[in-house]
Amino acid sequence: MNAKDANYLVDIIAGARPNFMKVAPIMRAIDARRRTGSRLRYRLVHTGQHYDERMSGQFFTQLGIPAPDVNLEVGSGSQAEQTAGIMVGYERLLLSERSALCLVVGDVNSTMACAIAAQKLRVPVAHVEAGIRSGDWTMPEEINRLVTDSITNWFFTTSEVANSNLRRSGVPADAVFFVGNTMIDTLLDNMAKLRPPPFWEELTLEANGYFVMTLHRPANVDDPASFARLLEAVGSGVRGLPVIFPVHPRTAKAMQGMAVPACIKAVEPQPYLEFNHLVKHARGVITDSGGVTEETTVMGVPCLTLRDTTERPETVAIGTNELVGTDPSRLKPALDRLLDGHWKAGGIPPKWDGHTGERIARELERLLDAQP
Ligand code: UD1
Repeated sequence: MNAKDANYLVDIIAGARPNFMKVAPIMRAIDARRRTGSRLRYRLVHTGQHYDERMSGQFFTQLGIPAPDVNLEVGSGSQAEQTAGIMVGYERLLLSERSALCLVVGDVNSTMACAIAAQKLRVPVAHVEAGIRSGDWTMPEEINRLVTDSITNWFFTTSEVANSNLRRSGVPADAVFFVGNTMIDTLLDNMAKLRPPPFWEELTLEANGYFVMTLHRPANVDDPASFARLLEAVGSGVRGLPVIFPVHPRTAKAMQGMAVPACIKAVEPQPYLEFNHLVKHARGVITDSGGVTEETTVMGVPCLTLRDTTERPETVAIGTNELVGTDPSRLKPALDRLLDGHWKAGGIPPKWDGHTGERIARELERLLDAQP
């Protein structure tokens, strides 16, 4: 690589499941620019935070993401172990071949760890999905957001709320780029390819005749007694409809030996196309994920979020999402409203239009062009 090209090498960091759908459109947009003569190029760095086929491999295959150029293979560990392992691995990579920019997405440990390692070596940081805040410091993701944004140079945002959060914390306006939502680029791009999972027939699922549920936040699943109460409340509130529950690995550990209501159908973590097929045709979704609330908003599917806060308030203010909270007694009234046909219709937030990856690639090139 000659020196000029090195000025355009962007590290794209992906570590955990919710990162993969966010980076895919950015890489595609960079590839498209390259075909028309752009110097912009990327090195895909997988930190290995999520490592098994169900949490990582199948997303690469389905979303057409090329094999990572580098895998740091950090694996599981405590918050500090995982963060530290990624920092050590990524610092080593930057010292052996420096990039012009480190682009991180979302709010997982990989996001924060790579931002720190890069900025300390004076590699500028761009953060996609910057500026969102739940205000809840008990969530590791909120710490990751705060730390990452405090050392980010260029902020790519999904919403006006994120823009104003950044403004309030003193970020200059010319460092913020309101580009929209790359997760929604991926969703719109794959909408026609969504397909039912193999168990669709076996469970005799029908459109609007079942729920989808995902739960993995420590606040919901780590304490067995309260997790069991939550599952009971779901089971008794859905009027016998099946609840398809793709079980995240940390949730699977918590569920071992637990009695689960019969209508809750625990299944493996689903691949992207199957999961979103299930969501698209569900009567409603019960979740504690952030990304899922964005996807349900775009698909117009009622979404009950089992959290007390959200960093994505537009999914509530504009979309189909409602914060039900973590108290199981609040679930039934919400499910009753849904099942009685009184859920809000919802709209789509500005710039969630399928072209965010292109906007990001254009800005990246402009920003790197302007570097000394
Ligand atoms: C991480 C993110 C969270 C995101 C979630 C989506 C952080 C702080 N959290 O949480 O924001 O919503 O991913 O999945 O970064 N495991 C496997 N196979 C894998 C990956 C993990 O079995 O491929 C197991 C681990 O061994 C561990 C558990 O799942 O026991 C949790 O994994 P971890 O990466 O620590 O965090 P998540 O809870 O997945």
